[in-house]
Amino acid sequence: MKRHLLSIDDVTADDIGALFETAAEMHDVQRREVKKLPALRGRTVINLFFEDSTRTRSSFEIAGKWLSADVINLSAKGSSTSKGESLRDTVLTVTAMGVDGLVMRHSASGAAQQVSQWVDVPVVNAGDGTHEHPTQALLDAYTLTRRLGSLSGRHVAIVGDLTHSRVFRSNLKCLTKLGASVTAVAPPTLMPSGVSAWSKEAGFATSYDLDEVLPDVDAVMMLRVQRERMSGGYFPSAREYTVGYGLTRDRLAALRPGTPILHPGPMNRGLEISADAADAVDSVVLDQVSAGVAVRMAVLYHLLAGPDEGAS
Ligand code: NCD
Repeated sequence: MKRHLLSIDDVTADDIGALFETAAEMHDVQRREVKKLPALRGRTVINLFFEDSTRTRSSFEIAGKWLSADVINLSAKGSSTSKGESLRDTVLTVTAMGVDGLVMRHSASGAAQQVSQWVDVPVVNAGDGTHEHPTQALLDAYTLTRRLGSLSGRHVAIVGDLTHSRVFRSNLKCLTKLGASVTAVAPPTLMPSGVSAWSKEAGFATSYDLDEVLPDVDAVMMLRVQRERMSGGYFPSAREYTVGYGLTRDRLAALRPGTPILHPGPMNRGLEISADAADAVDSVVLDQVSAGVAVRMAVLYHLLAGPDEGAS
């Protein structure tokens, strides 16, 4: 594996396979009463979150702690960033303290990549603007693999606010790398610009018609409508969005039985996903959360301990 995980471009299909093997071992640890492994004892990981987060930040924290690393959380609110310190000065300051790894989330696309050039420790991108969120894609693919087995030849629909979604971009790369075919479904206003050339180059399908796509998928991933990234009106009303693109109770019936329903969270219940879908027996939303810890343990382990150092 490469030194940093900034994008799904940084991992090969073989790397992903190795990460999933480690994640499966970590998943077993998660079920133990005593969850600590000594793998990262003596190492310090800093979580630098310049954007809000519930599951990503806490799962990186739990992942580091279960591997016995010391984990420090720093958020923009409460750090000197709010006093006007530059990103470069902030990361140089924290790395000067002797940290061994940096996990970061930032509202600017490319921020993690930029930081990786300033520091000499591994950097994990936990979401950079609308660009990528590689560990989310890895945990989604891991969750799907546990449900469906190999993803080769499987068809996954990714539905919603694709324009603003780093989860979409990372998942597209990850799923196609693992041999799945992807259909990107969104209203025309939330379909990324230039998608026709991009879809040809990257080999995915696009559709504006969710009802046409649903009966044909092996998994469906609903994405949040990211109002905080929207500057104008992308759809007339919430009601209209739900009618066209929400996974409503009626639409659930169009799915083949056993089709996993994914959502990275946080969910807007009643907007892109109905309560019936979020809580359906085939919803894997909480499996994604639990896989998030195991996959992030695997990522930290591979980047910080190196595969040659014993995990047990
Ligand atoms: C996503 C994110 O922050 O990119 N959430 C997450 O990490 N679980 C998706 C979102 O915010 O909608």
